[in-house]
Amino acid sequence: MARRRLVYEGKAKILYEGPEPGTYVQYFKDDATAFNAEKFDVIDGKGVLNNRISEHIMTALTGIGIPNHFIRRINMREQLIRACEIIPLEVVVRNVAAGSLSKRLGIDEGTALPRPIIEFYYKDDKLGDPMVTEEHIVAFNWAAQQDIDDIISLALRVNDFLSGLFLGVGIKLVDFKVETGRIWDGDFQRIILADEISPDSCRLWDVKTGQKLDKDVFRRDLGSLTDAYSEVARRLGILPEGGKGGKAGPKLVH
Ligand code: TMP
Ligand code: ASP
Repeated sequence: MARRRLVYEGKAKILYEGPEPGTYVQYFKDDATAFNAEKFDVIDGKGVLNNRISEHIMTALTGIGIPNHFIRRINMREQLIRACEIIPLEVVVRNVAAGSLSKRLGIDEGTALPRPIIEFYYKDDKLGDPMVTEEHIVAFNWAAQQDIDDIISLALRVNDFLSGLFLGVGIKLVDFKVETGRIWDGDFQRIILADEISPDSCRLWDVKTGQKLDKDVFRRDLGSLTDAYSEVARRLGILPEGGKGGKAGPKLVH
């Protein structure tokens, strides 16, 4: 079989040309990076877990009518996705102060925010993904005002849905990042969710103990990242208790 054409390689994923026009294969690597790749490690099994968790979440989002690029999982590390034109923004939604917001504004981590806060970062590793405002986004033509309005409403719907999904399994959705892309239906453009939604791109805290179940475990050297991600997968019903593979229902945590 001919080798697939590589379309793009990022820090945690690789995109290959898909089997049909308008599709890509998204491959999840085991590589973990933080602080703009200053910190790096290979974490056995991370890619497999993120592939499954992102599949689970994107499928659930499709089920409530939130458009996204996921088509189907192909194998342990790969999923078929719809090709879209990525909008070069990281869209962060926060429910609880943590991470860069706590640092920048001096608000204790764990402080509940009075309303969800949305932030935009311009995707450019050379610049370290700087925070930008809607003014920058429109002025520099990264997206039009109407696109921004659509992105905000998409991000807030995702936030409401995921907050409930995670709370049902005893996890607080502190914040998360999504990326979006454009697809074209003839002359009409639609904005859809792209990239991944996984513990790499969310902050997830156990409701009772506050234990971190996300990439902060790696960023802050708090223990085993695969144990944390496996726990998320187990609670979502993707892994059976104490094992790999198989299907169980979501694990309700009382
Ligand atoms: P921050 O507090 O470091 O700004 O991160 C906010 C959220 O965005 C957190 O859930 C982690 C996620 N995130 C990414 O997915 N990619 C990134 O490059 C950064 C900086 C954060
Ligand atoms: N910024 C990403 C993170 O910390 C990864 C990286 O910057 O290398 O999640």
